[in-house]
Amino acid sequence: MPNIVVVGAQWGDEGKGKVIDLLMRDYDYVVRYQGGNNAGHTVVIGEEKFILHLVPSGVLHKDKICVIGNGVVIDPRALLEEIALLKRQGIKAEGRLFISEEAHVIFPYHKTIDDLKEVKQGCGKIGTTKKGIGPCYADKVARSGIRMIDLLNDRIFRERLKQNLDEKNTILKTLYGFKGFDFDEIYTAYAGYRARIRNYVADTSLMLNEAIRKKKSIIFEGAQGTLLDVDFGTYPFVTSSNATAGGACIGSGIGPTAIDKVVGVVKAYTTRVGEGPFPTEFSDTLMEKIRKKGKEFGATTGRPRRCGWFDAVLVNHAVRVNGINEVVITKLDVLNDLDRIKICVAYKYKGKTYKNFKNDVDILSLGEPVYEEVPGWIEDTTRIMSYAKLPSNAKRYLKRIQELLKTRIVLVSVGSDRKQTFAR
Ligand code: GDP
Ligand code: IMO
Ligand code: MG
Repeated sequence: MPNIVVVGAQWGDEGKGKVIDLLMRDYDYVVRYQGGNNAGHTVVIGEEKFILHLVPSGVLHKDKICVIGNGVVIDPRALLEEIALLKRQGIKAEGRLFISEEAHVIFPYHKTIDDLKEVKQGCGKIGTTKKGIGPCYADKVARSGIRMIDLLNDRIFRERLKQNLDEKNTILKTLYGFKGFDFDEIYTAYAGYRARIRNYVADTSLMLNEAIRKKKSIIFEGAQGTLLDVDFGTYPFVTSSNATAGGACIGSGIGPTAIDKVVGVVKAYTTRVGEGPFPTEFSDTLMEKIRKKGKEFGATTGRPRRCGWFDAVLVNHAVRVNGINEVVITKLDVLNDLDRIKICVAYKYKGKTYKNFKNDVDILSLGEPVYEEVPGWIEDTTRIMSYAKLPSNAKRYLKRIQELLKTRIVLVSVGSDRKQTFAR
């Protein structure tokens, strides 16, 4: 099998977890390469539901190797809780889950800064998951972060934690009037996590390169989505990592020559959690209807997701910046009982028409979407097992999306279960 990157082509929650679980049967390794426990990837198998935050979604296949790459930021407590929950659900990660020694560690001060900064910004806030993701990546780039390998070295860990607390406590007190953190408390808690995590930590870049040499196949699992990418997303309303396919190399320590294909996961409409521009966002009535039908509530925070029409301008941008070769369409069933369906093909702003995505907050928030309309299908598609059996208007909708994206749709999903998927 070729090595593939699976990326979200919108604002996250496209159904990456389901797609990765499905593809994983044919692969040997699965690697998360960026983000942290801000992600929530859902896999449904029959009556059982699993929500993965840090552990790669391929973990449910019991013989596969799972890697959390150097590009991920890890809250050790959240990771240990996730591993324990998986164990209670009958999935053992020990012995086949490996964490990069170069991955950065999230500390309580990261979460507090994330929270307080949002409160201070008021209506200018980003609407983060408050998991400490942004502040942890900020420390990584500022060269003051603490990596897994540093946590394992007691002398270095003590030194770095002390330096960090000196700085963070000053910031917390001066800027936010927050009392600050106690060294001993954090040290003791993290020394405890360290003892339980030690056996998972490895040189995962070396491991993956050896696997590639032995012709093992790998899925690189993107978290978030292209429009949340720190470079190509709707900045500043983005996350703090490179969710796009390029991030797979940086975040796992393999070269671009090892990647054969990029698969984009695309929801049949659009959703977004948190603040920021959303050109095709629904008005109240449709918003409620689609949110209810698509169960559009965050898998990590439970927040209601904002919903809107399919936006071909955004997804075309994602096809370009990721080099997407194949598309998987998810949640087609959520559109089942609509009379007419709209597809955004351009934005109009100050008399000018933009067919290509322009990363300008004014165009994205004040521009008028230009829509094409296609007829709906008013028919249940959740039991359909093949493309041929889809209502003709559903096929027409998919065909139009494929034309607009100039990229092949290879899989269609019509429900959350593994079985509710078919090839096109
Ligand atoms: P991810 O973050 O991209 O992995 O996506 P999430 O798991 O956060 O959100 C996708 C949600 O849609 C989950 O609740 C999935 O179980 C569900 N889902 C995935 N594919 C389909 C589908 O084709 N139809 C429906 N109705 N739900 C789906
Ligand atoms: P998955 O992998 C949807 C959003 C947050 C916020 C912004 C920044 O499940 O698709 P952060 O906590 O990362 O600093 O928040 O990014 N966000 C997501 N939205 N799906 C996700 O992950 C997300 N991870 C972060 O809502 O707008
Ligand atoms: Mg999600």
